[in-house]
Amino acid sequence: MHLIAHLILLLPSALALNPETIVNALKNAPSQRVAELGDAAFVKTLTSACTVFKLEDDDVCVGAIGEQGPILAHALRNISPLGSTATKLCEGTFGLCQPPPVNEWSVPFPPPPVSSDSESIPTTERVKSSGKTPFQVVHFSDVHIDREYVPGSDANCKKPICCRNFADEQMPPSEPAGPFGNRNCDSPAGLAKSMLEQIAGHHTWSIFTGDVVEAAVWIVNKSEVTNDVTIFNSELSAALNAPVFPAIGNHDAAPVNNFPRDATVSSQFDAQWVFDLEGKEWEHWTNTTASTEETHESGSYAVIVSGTQLRIISVNTVYWYKQNFWVYDSNTPEPDPRGIFAFMVRQLQAAEDAGQRVWIIGHMPPGCQDALSDQSNYYDQIVQRYKDVIAGQFFGHTHYDEFEIAYSDYKDRSENTAVGVAWIAPALTPRSGNPAFKVYDVDPDTYEIMDAKVYMTDLKSPVYQVKPEWQLLYSAREEYGPLVDLAPGSPLDAGFWHRVTEAFERNETAFQRWNAFMTREGDVRTCTGECKKLAVCQMRAMRAEDNCHIARPTSTFGDTERDDLAQAVLSSSPNKSGHRRDVNQCEGAGIGHILSKLSYKMSVGHAKDEVTKTFKGRLDDIFASHHQREKADL
Ligand SMILES: *[C@@H]1O[C@H](CO)[C@@H](O)[C@H](O)[C@H]1NC(C)=O
Ligand SMILES: *[C@@H]1O[C@H](CO)[C@@H](O)[C@H](O)[C@H]1NC(C)=O
Ligand SMILES: *[C@@H]1O[C@H](CO)[C@@H](O)[C@H](O)[C@H]1NC(C)=O
Ligand SMILES: *[C@@H]1O[C@H](CO)[C@@H](O)[C@H](O)[C@H]1NC(C)=O
Repeated sequence: MHLIAHLILLLPSALALNPETIVNALKNAPSQRVAELGDAAFVKTLTSACTVFKLEDDDVCVGAIGEQGPILAHALRNISPLGSTATKLCEGTFGLCQPPPVNEWSVPFPPPPVSSDSESIPTTERVKSSGKTPFQVVHFSDVHIDREYVPGSDANCKKPICCRNFADEQMPPSEPAGPFGNRNCDSPAGLAKSMLEQIAGHHTWSIFTGDVVEAAVWIVNKSEVTNDVTIFNSELSAALNAPVFPAIGNHDAAPVNNFPRDATVSSQFDAQWVFDLEGKEWEHWTNTTASTEETHESGSYAVIVSGTQLRIISVNTVYWYKQNFWVYDSNTPEPDPRGIFAFMVRQLQAAEDAGQRVWIIGHMPPGCQDALSDQSNYYDQIVQRYKDVIAGQFFGHTHYDEFEIAYSDYKDRSENTAVGVAWIAPALTPRSGNPAFKVYDVDPDTYEIMDAKVYMTDLKSPVYQVKPEWQLLYSAREEYGPLVDLAPGSPLDAGFWHRVTEAFERNETAFQRWNAFMTREGDVRTCTGECKKLAVCQMRAMRAEDNCHIARPTSTFGDTERDDLAQAVLSSSPNKSGHRRDVNQCEGAGIGHILSKLSYKMSVGHAKDEVTKTFKGRLDDIFASHHQREKADL
């Protein structure tokens, strides 16, 4: 019970927090006393901080910390407060530390093939486009369907998501929820149905990069997750007359992000039921081998798309996610939790040996600030090794339409060193812009992407609440091709995207259009100057250590720089509809969000003395009663 408990104890007296004072304070902290705290007291302490500082509504504080707090407490009991795991945790949850340098580790690869003739032919030479007409594949993500969405309920509440009949709902509602959704809410079932009708019209197979469940993470439980994913899987089967290849998202578990590295840690928190469930549910799109893999490879599987030479490797990325607190429960780094990298390497090697090409699909993109930089680095090593086999990488999670490029040399990021690109799909949920999905044109020989078209429906359209109308927003080839003199017949590969980033640097109009596309022209955020530099840096980083992100306490966990800008706008005209911008896109009000808000409040001096005193008083009460109970137990 070290770091966080110490921090919580120290917060009231350390209004001007910075990492140095924390470290100093830790050295002198009354560790004896806090070390005695158990899960219950830990949860109570954090909950009281959350309610006293009004970080969220009381039910949200109680639920979120009650669900996830014990996981964090478990981690804290197992690590030393000044080691590198504690630093990672301090960064991932409080934003008060910078991540430690990457723990150097080389992904084990099988020896290169012993070829009888010395001139072994690389895959890129063997697999050449013959210029056949591309086929289409649909990519959708982050549907976040709220089965308890109630039309007519309040869409303007203070909780992380609205449009539900919450017990403390304002009556009459200040903004009644329409039947097809609202920017303060997750997707109603009708919106998902509307999208699936559009997708069905494309008559082709799809990839789905995860997050079925809505973001009311403070009340999500196992039966809801089971129910939500089962219903959605059957809706997919009913609506689409073609296979869907899904990946597991961090929300497709209970509590949210709950994927222990150690399967034996606690039956209460075991996530095996997720893998067993989805393995069975997805089998009719894949096959029994893939289903067995899901069960035994912690949710990852591989499948060859029927009638193609394309192997899809679906990867469970949640063991590389900063908000999965199970990854902080040891001082000893574990480079490959659950052997996900080993599984990828086996599959990629098999594809290379068989002359196939590979698409990697997963939920969290490897280069975003949510990804642990160690595992992001190891993922990148795999991309480097198998760059000629990998024809595409597809993710979701950020809710934005964006991309990340991998380079053979991150010190020299150029068209010539660009070796791979991660395509990130926009979300269906209206929480982060207009609902959208992507359709790729795929070369039938190389499986490279020839075009990507984004379709969206405009929340502000007068007919939206009657029947959402879907329209083509843009075609990447038409939009960006002319900016970089793309040759006819060339794919939209990593080199292309690098040249697009150069076009963004010199052409403000082009960049601003991209910035608007990111949220599908809904809730467009201003991004110029430093924000633009950071955005371009993120495009040029499939490796998190190179994404230019600087950790700091924020009122959000998501998109820090952008949210700081939004925050500045908000503080000049705070109003309720603006409140929603404050909510992290991918996380909802999980405990990480609450902790980050807490340290933000403290560190920027938002805490009023009165509040601080009350908080300190409550803490003292908790500790006193805890000690009394302990004495009584003896
Ligand atoms: C799980 O959540 C659902 C939906 O919020 C609720 O109806 C149900 O009672 C909960 N189940 C348990 C066991 O808590
Ligand atoms: C499932 O498909 C994979 C390739 O995608 C193949 O290697 C495997 O044999 C198949 N399994 C079954 C049981 O058909
Ligand atoms: C800049 O980008 C805009 C929008 O894509 C485009 O219309 C314009 O031609 C570009 N300007 C130059 C000089 O390339
Ligand atoms: C409140 O926020 C909305 C959306 O950002 C904005 O359009 C509106 O003008 C704001 N109202 C006030 C009174 O500032």
